Amino acid sequence: MRILILGSGGREHTLAWKIAQSPLCDNLFVAPGNPGTLEVATNVNMNPTDLDAVIDFVKTHQIDMVVVGPEAPLVLGVHDAIKSYPSLDHVAVIGPEKAAAELEGSKSFAKAFMARHQIPTAGYATFTKSTLDKGLLFLTTLTSPYVLKADGLAAGKGVLIIDDLSDAQSALKNMLAHEQFGSASQTVVIEEFLSGIELSCFVLTDGKGYKILPMAKDYKRIGEGDKGLNTGGMGAVSPVPFVNQKFLDKIEHQIVKPTIDGLISDGLPYVGVIFIGLIKVGESPFVIEYNVRFGDPEAEVVIPRIKSDLVALFSALDKGTLDAFELEVDERSAATVMMVSGGYPGEYKKGFEVSGIGKTDDLILFHAGTKVGDNKVVTDGGRVMALTAFGENHQTALEKIYGQIDLIQFEGKNYRKDIGFDL
Ligand code: AMP
Ligand code: GLY
Repeated sequence: MRILILGSGGREHTLAWKIAQSPLCDNLFVAPGNPGTLEVATNVNMNPTDLDAVIDFVKTHQIDMVVVGPEAPLVLGVHDAIKSYPSLDHVAVIGPEKAAAELEGSKSFAKAFMARHQIPTAGYATFTKSTLDKGLLFLTTLTSPYVLKADGLAAGKGVLIIDDLSDAQSALKNMLAHEQFGSASQTVVIEEFLSGIELSCFVLTDGKGYKILPMAKDYKRIGEGDKGLNTGGMGAVSPVPFVNQKFLDKIEHQIVKPTIDGLISDGLPYVGVIFIGLIKVGESPFVIEYNVRFGDPEAEVVIPRIKSDLVALFSALDKGTLDAFELEVDERSAATVMMVSGGYPGEYKKGFEVSGIGKTDDLILFHAGTKVGDNKVVTDGGRVMALTAFGENHQTALEKIYGQIDLIQFEGKNYRKDIGFDL
């Protein structure tokens, strides 16, 4: 098969690394990719949100399968756009159609979906510029902290959690009246605050059946002890020790099944992965958010734990034969630690040489924000590289990573030394 992956981060390198191992994969392209994907695929200088360019590439390179890494092309409708050409009808697109991608593209759509299908989530109300006064009043009926969410995609920055009522009211005004997040905050969801521990659940679906992948936990804050600003993710582990069979059953019956059934009854075709961001409140799971793609850095631990052939698995999604697919999972734990640029998630410099690649033993290096400059690998983003290891448990996997992480060097490098600290 000829396969195209869209995206360029650690998640996409992980997808490429795994797909390249499949005997079913004859040619692998990644657009735009990074120096890591270059080791296993051909990089294509193409923006994944340029749908015309994507379609042109699929046609001219006789692509059989498109695996969509990030959410933006899905929310723009890349699945529908490819399938709108009769000559591309046979192309497997791994990622949902535009209508279902609204689960990530619009928080109010996702909340209404959960309400309609009785899926446990925080109580909420939705406001626009014309109902700003009602929103300000609604905030006074809640208790601190206040959770405000821009409805649309805001590059992970659209969620504000604010302790003080008057600060929350000002923030609501900024979002609605001054469009702080552009068109993404024309609608704002205000939610009840849920207190608990978060985890990430990935569900593969062919639109009929589903398979739940191993649970993962990511660490979003920049600082140790989960302090400081939110990032794209500083590390992850899989499995999650506090998820026992009883809790897993609750996740499946209260959340996963109603989600799949809801998609079917709402007429939302879905081929791909549903990322359910969960929070464990007491002994009960609640949905914080849906995403329509793999998480990053969760992909860097979940995908390596899939022992089955990923291309065969994705083909089963496309053909609607997932129920018959025997999913094999590595029982070992996997952990990943993200190395980031100094200053990230604030301002940081790029272009520093990364040395030591190839010196580590028994680790998998997934490139994220790197590029090739002057025949060297240099930093090119906030999150630079993820180091993944297996172990009997997450502690031994993390010991392996932390024992070698300083072999990789670049100016200003930073990483969290406490991934898994709360488990
Ligand atoms: P989201 O983009 O919806 O995942 O929100 C980003 C982060 O904000 C989540 O990972 C949570 O840590 C936090 N968060 C979002 N909604 C809530 C909520 N209702 N209660 C508590 N924390 C929340
Ligand atoms: N790691 C969280 C995300 O990918 O959104």
